[in-house]
Parts: sequence; C-alpha cells; structure tokens
Amino acid sequence: MEEKISRLRDEALRAVADSRNLAALDEARVKYTGKKSGLQELLKSLGAAAPEERPKLGALVNEAKQAIEQALGDRKAVLRQTEQDQKIAAEKLDITLPGKGIKRGRLHPLTQVMDEAKAIFGRLGFEIAEGPEAETEYYNFDGLNIPPHHPSRDMWATFFIKDDVLLRTHTSPVQIRVMEKRKPPLAIIAPGRVYRRDSDATHSPVFQQLEGFLVNENVTFGDLKGTLTEFLRQMFGKEKNVRFRPSFFPFTEPSAEVDVECVICSGKGCRLCKGTGWLEILGAGMIDPNVFKAVGYDAEKYSGFAFGMGIDRIAMLKYGIDDIRLLYENDLRFLEQF
Ligand code: DAH
Repeated sequence: MEEKISRLRDEALRAVADSRNLAALDEARVKYTGKKSGLQELLKSLGAAAPEERPKLGALVNEAKQAIEQALGDRKAVLRQTEQDQKIAAEKLDITLPGKGIKRGRLHPLTQVMDEAKAIFGRLGFEIAEGPEAETEYYNFDGLNIPPHHPSRDMWATFFIKDDVLLRTHTSPVQIRVMEKRKPPLAIIAPGRVYRRDSDATHSPVFQQLEGFLVNENVTFGDLKGTLTEFLRQMFGKEKNVRFRPSFFPFTEPSAEVDVECVICSGKGCRLCKGTGWLEILGAGMIDPNVFKAVGYDAEKYSGFAFGMGIDRIAMLKYGIDDIRLLYENDLRFLEQF
C-alpha cells in the first residue's frame, strides 16, 4: 500500500513536470486528483486496511495529494507566465518599421486648371452656370445666330444624336439658356465638356471649355479687354503680354481672338508658337444684336461681351504637354506628375 502511494505520487509529479502547456496540465490534474483518480481509489480502499494502519496510510495519501496539488499550482504559474510571454512576443509590433505608404490621390491637371480659371473669374465677380451636354440644335446653333445651312456651321464638326439633338460643340449655348431665364446685369461663366468629331495630337473628340459673358448697360470692348487681360495675366503670369486680333464668330460683332506671349520663348519665336512669339488662347467679342434678339433683350439698351476658351489647351501650354490624348488616357505615370 505504502509503495503504491509513493508510486502514484511519483508518477503524478512527473506528469505535472512534463506538462508542456496549461491544457496538458489540466489533463494531469483531472487524472491524478480528480474523482476517478488513483489517489481517490486509495482513499476509498483504506477501509479494507487494518485499523491500526489506517491513520498512517491516510496521512500518507493526504500528504501525497498535497504534494501533487502544490506541484500543480507551481507548474500552473510557470506555464501561465510562459504562455503570456509567448502571446506578447507573437503580438509584438515594431513601430519603428517604415509603414506601407498609402497612395495619395490628386486632382487631374484639367481639374486643376479649370478650378484655377473658375477662381480667377470668381474673384472678378462672375457666377457659374451650367447647361446640358446633349443639346438641341437651336441652343447650339440657331439661337447663337448660326442659321441652318449657313456656312458658319462648318466651324464645328458636330456629333448628331438624332435630327434635332446633338452633343454640344461648345459651351456657348449656356449663354442663350441663361439669358432666356434672367435679365441683366449678368456676369456668368459656364464650364463644361464639349464634343467635336476631331482627333489628333491637339484635338480630342471630348474636351473642356470655359465660356463667359457679361451683359449690362454700357458694356464696352474696353471692358472685354480689361477682363480678359486680367484673367490671362493671373493664369500665365503678370509679365506676359496679351494681344487682341480681329476675327469672326457668328455670335459676336466685332469678334477677336486673344493671344498670350509664348510660354516657351516669351515672344522670340519657337516651334510651339510656330515662330510667331504668340499663342492663341481664346475667342471673344461683343455679343451680336441677333443673339439679344433671340433671347428677347433690347439690343439698344443692353450690350455685352462673351468669350470662350479651351481648358485643355491652357493646361497643355501651362504644363508643356504636347499631346492632348494624354489628358484622357488616365495613365498614372502621366497623372502623377501634376
Ligand atoms: N464657342 C466658340 C468655339 O467653341 C468660342 C467662342 C468664341 C465663344 C467667341 C465665345 C465667343 O463666347 O465670344 O469655337
């Protein structure tokens, strides 16, 4: 009996010492101290021992039990500490490692130039208006003094959707839409996409324009020159000269094209400006009385100027981009440069 107790005790202590983790230790605890353990069996069988042996044997069993419980407790503390250490080691975060950079988004160069143009005109007191990209023939042409079958329609290579509906070839129809609804004084800019059947390094079938117009009593060509000169100086730099050349547009009379000194050679003459020293930036003029008539304004009372520019062209000149198609391909290697 005594031998049995000490064997059980040794076996149990070894099992405790050999437990590699808390789960294994718990198995040992159940096996050696639980209700069905060898020790419990021994306690139960004490009744069969000789009465004078019982106290001694009982004390031995209890002592063995205490020793095992003590060992279980000690081992548990050690294993708990180890498991916690392992867990902390596994979760360790080296905050000195460089992070994975999150790619920063940025505005498309066309958006940047458009925003800048809007901001300049905003400071000059212009408000923004918009119109539809699918437009009727009336707003795109007739209302702007471009009658059917008139050769001036040839200025715009038009995408027709159906007989009377087309993709607007310019932002000028917004002039008619705004003036039909409102009375002067008006100072409006109309930014937006326009479409033409045209495609090469300097022409895209879709591109961006910024239209502008101002109507009031006593508006003069001097107001037009002052406004556009100020705009171009803010856009291209104070030192750049600006010139106005006579031109023709059906919706303005007189009409002008406005040039800015070449961004590359500053007027000396280079390949970009084809040796002229000047870059053509926009079309403009005094609003034709026929346009006022179409919207029901009294052309004797009111006068006004209008202008239209290609935002793509301005972006290309500002940033030295030599192919307009780059602006529409969404190639990150290109876009990341702005
Ligand atoms: N709509 C013209 C075009 O796309 C540009 C233009 C020229 C607009 C003269 C104007 C203007 O308002 O007065 O070619």
